[in-house]
Amino acid sequence: MLSRQIASGLRAYETPFYLYDTALLRQTLESVVYESNKYGYKVHYAIKANYDDHLLAIIREYGLGIDCASGNELRKAVEAGFDPRGIVYAGVGKRDKELRYAIEQGILAINCESIEELMLVDALAAEAGRVTDVALRINPDIDPKTNHCIDTGQADSKFGISYEEVLEHAEAIKALRHVDIVGIHLHIGSQIRELHVFENMCNKVNAIVENLERLGFSFRFVDVGGGLGVNYDVPENEPIPNFASLFSIVHNHLAVGDKEVHFEFGRSIVAECGELITTVLFNKTTATGRKLAIVDASMTELIRPALYGSYHNIENITSEEEGREKYTIVGTACESTDVFDENVSLKKTRRGDLLTIKSAGAYGMSMASRYNLHDLPGAVYSDEL
Ligand code: LLP
Repeated sequence: MLSRQIASGLRAYETPFYLYDTALLRQTLESVVYESNKYGYKVHYAIKANYDDHLLAIIREYGLGIDCASGNELRKAVEAGFDPRGIVYAGVGKRDKELRYAIEQGILAINCESIEELMLVDALAAEAGRVTDVALRINPDIDPKTNHCIDTGQADSKFGISYEEVLEHAEAIKALRHVDIVGIHLHIGSQIRELHVFENMCNKVNAIVENLERLGFSFRFVDVGGGLGVNYDVPENEPIPNFASLFSIVHNHLAVGDKEVHFEFGRSIVAECGELITTVLFNKTTATGRKLAIVDASMTELIRPALYGSYHNIENITSEEEGREKYTIVGTACESTDVFDENVSLKKTRRGDLLTIKSAGAYGMSMASRYNLHDLPGAVYSDEL
């Protein structure tokens, strides 16, 4: 854990801030590139996980494509120098101006999530005098065995087109003249730790591709999304996620001939390289006897615990006390759910101590807000120290 090694040096920066271990990010990227190359798989980085410019510049060096979820994310990726031909764009509710921009950029694929969207893309592409590449995002109806708040591919989810609806409209889809249906896309959820669910996903994809090709569709690629989980419990045990296992499962179970296979990883690329560093402002004990450590970060810097009940491992990196105590770690925001964790065993904690909230590189800064007019947190990078 980088923060522990350089704890005293961190006093120079105003908290709260994100600390990024760019060496770990590079090792993670080396791993994903090395493992994916074994099978010729193509990897996109899901920019929603963290769109920090410094991190994006590093990610670009490793040749990844981008997966984006809004017109502004697409613009960010283009401005950061990613080749539009390596960018996919999903999202249930794309605005006309966002679709126009995607069409103009000639991206790898607009991943369409409803029949109406497909019709609109066809019309907008016609208006632009173009034929646009599109992938059908299909809802595969799979339980990814993760936190319900972050599953995306179950039958009733808002994401993707139901397979039944694709069948029902197959002829109309094939008749579209300004979209070229080049791929199938799906994403079953995030923070998936039970990798066997990816086997179910592959079996579903095999059947969907086979059936749709029998109906006359012809796909160049399948994009199976992201979702590989990280070890929030003890990040030190697994700083680099197990890309090799996931790729080997997909290799053994996906049977789509020589089609390209794409992945869209967000969390697994950046979660572990980021920590949120915060200062203890005050300690107090509630009337019920609960010891609170009030820190200068809050849900406005890292909303995951308040929003999903997510767990992040927390450590006091500057206390030199021998004893440990149990604390409830709360933030500064005017919200009762602004609690990072309860019953956290920490070295005895005093005003001014620095805490690290680990594995915060993904969906941390990118979900930060200015509630209570908090300032957005800064960032410190290990390669600039
Ligand atoms: N592709 C699509 C279409 C997605 O919707 C997502 C994430 C990804 C790829 C990247 O998934 P990952 O590899 O990061 O699991 N804010 C939540 C996570 C939301 C994920 C949304 N979609 C969190 O903090 O856990």
